Amino acid sequence: MTSLSTSPAWSTLAELASQIKHQHMRDWFAQDPNRAEKYTTSACGITLDYSKNLITDEVLDALQTLAKQQQLGAKRNAMFAGDIINYTEQRAVLHTALRNFSGKPVYVDGVDVMPEVLATQDKIQAFTHAIHSGEHKGYTGKAIKQIVSIGIGGSFLGPKIMSEALKPYWVSGVKVHFVANVDGCHIHDVLSQLDHEETLIVMSSKSFSTQETLQNTLTAKDWFLSAGGKQEDIAKHFIAVSSNIKAATDFGMAEENIFPMWDWVGGRYSLWSAIGLPIALTMGYDNYRQLLEGAYAMDTHFIEAPVEQNLPVLLALLGVWYVNFFGAQSHVLLPYYHYLRGFPAYVQQLDMESNGKGVNEHGHVDYATGPVIWGSEGTNGQHSFHQLIHQGKVLIPADFMLPLRVPNQNDTHHAMLASNCFGQTQALMQGKTYQECFADLEGKGLDEDTRHTLAQHKTMPGNKPSNTLLFEQLDPHTLGALVAMYEHKVFVQGAIWGVNSFDQWGVELGKVLGNQVLDKLVNKQDSLSFDSSTNQLISKFRSAN
Ligand code: F6P
Repeated sequence: MTSLSTSPAWSTLAELASQIKHQHMRDWFAQDPNRAEKYTTSACGITLDYSKNLITDEVLDALQTLAKQQQLGAKRNAMFAGDIINYTEQRAVLHTALRNFSGKPVYVDGVDVMPEVLATQDKIQAFTHAIHSGEHKGYTGKAIKQIVSIGIGGSFLGPKIMSEALKPYWVSGVKVHFVANVDGCHIHDVLSQLDHEETLIVMSSKSFSTQETLQNTLTAKDWFLSAGGKQEDIAKHFIAVSSNIKAATDFGMAEENIFPMWDWVGGRYSLWSAIGLPIALTMGYDNYRQLLEGAYAMDTHFIEAPVEQNLPVLLALLGVWYVNFFGAQSHVLLPYYHYLRGFPAYVQQLDMESNGKGVNEHGHVDYATGPVIWGSEGTNGQHSFHQLIHQGKVLIPADFMLPLRVPNQNDTHHAMLASNCFGQTQALMQGKTYQECFADLEGKGLDEDTRHTLAQHKTMPGNKPSNTLLFEQLDPHTLGALVAMYEHKVFVQGAIWGVNSFDQWGVELGKVLGNQVLDKLVNKQDSLSFDSSTNQLISKFRSAN
């Protein structure tokens, strides 16, 4: 069997990359006034301008050939059909069923999962209504005004970040707080501001076995009981979302208070399941439903659109181009929208937990896979890390994001924000030549040597790739489409690299060792038999406590 890195499509791309490295995007824009139009496409309220990339038609053709060679179409169909594509855990991968509004069944092991999915959506709708209308009351008869969502990883990032991104859609009268870390400062800070009589705790854990979430929920329960609540009042103030109904009831959750999910929903793909309940509680069921519908629209686009118009496929192919043929080790996400500031952290888990793998179905791979995903809101980054993207020696492809219109905002601020976003993509692409910098320094009273040295330091190489993603407005529908677009981008890259994007064995060892260490921190008299560094760290902790 030919490995990916010795395949014909790979060799063609390697050859093209060695040619492209001697060319400059600045010249391509000068030669072709239609370049932007040619390399721009829109779907589901999102416009992608990918013209500021190190690509030609030939490169795009070769990338498409690579995708075909890796059987992208067949792999995509297998996911949507509910095949066991997560083969190391023997699971189907069907987050798309959670936003399937086609009216068609989706089968797992011959059973249509849609009735259960729709029943859970109804349950979310009814519960959200009961909270917002004040019909669901706390044990003293007060309406619920504060909600604390406890969960971590995919059971935290999606609900928190999507709620934050849709702040203009929040309902009044109810505030949702999120707690993830087992660091007690966090839950303490949140609970200490709240009145237990009007607080609801939503415990979100697919497995119902995650240490951080279990401990934070126990702490919340202690807080509730010590503030005056009784054991029999718990049902009015604690609910759970989990696929492990038995563990949840053993823990003390009332069965009617458990919102189910299923093992065919991966944690980092779970915001579309009842894990998204806090989103509905933040902004109402109709807005939450719009989020799901936006994701469904993107699913349809992903299945139907030809490659040259297919947003997730294009983004994925561009990513592979830089990771595997330009040595890019990271990819930066730059939302120019304050409410979307958490988005890089969301995609970080989605991408890095999915494609941070070194083994494919045939064994160890000899090519790079998932890059480091990072970033933060613009313009803040411009006054910090953008320096390295502009003039550093490593190539860092960027995705800029900007809503064209924002609700309730001052026009001057928004125009400044947009100008910075566009100006950055321009600067990265065109740079500034040594000659231009040298000429700028004329007449400044500098001797030739100083002028030369300064011009060298000021030169901006340019030729740095970026995508620009524009939204008419970041409404729930568009946000749903945006998230699904990145999910499918990650899927396409995993399909090309041949990795299983849906397991996460790499996080397991740390959990096991963490528990062994905890045992030694609690049982202080036990002898220590770890490596000398770990023993020393434990001893220092023991003496300090
Ligand atoms: O530790 C990684 C992980 O398993 C993620 O994949 C998941 O999103 C997170 O932990 C939380 O898991 P759970 O929802 O089962 O508590």
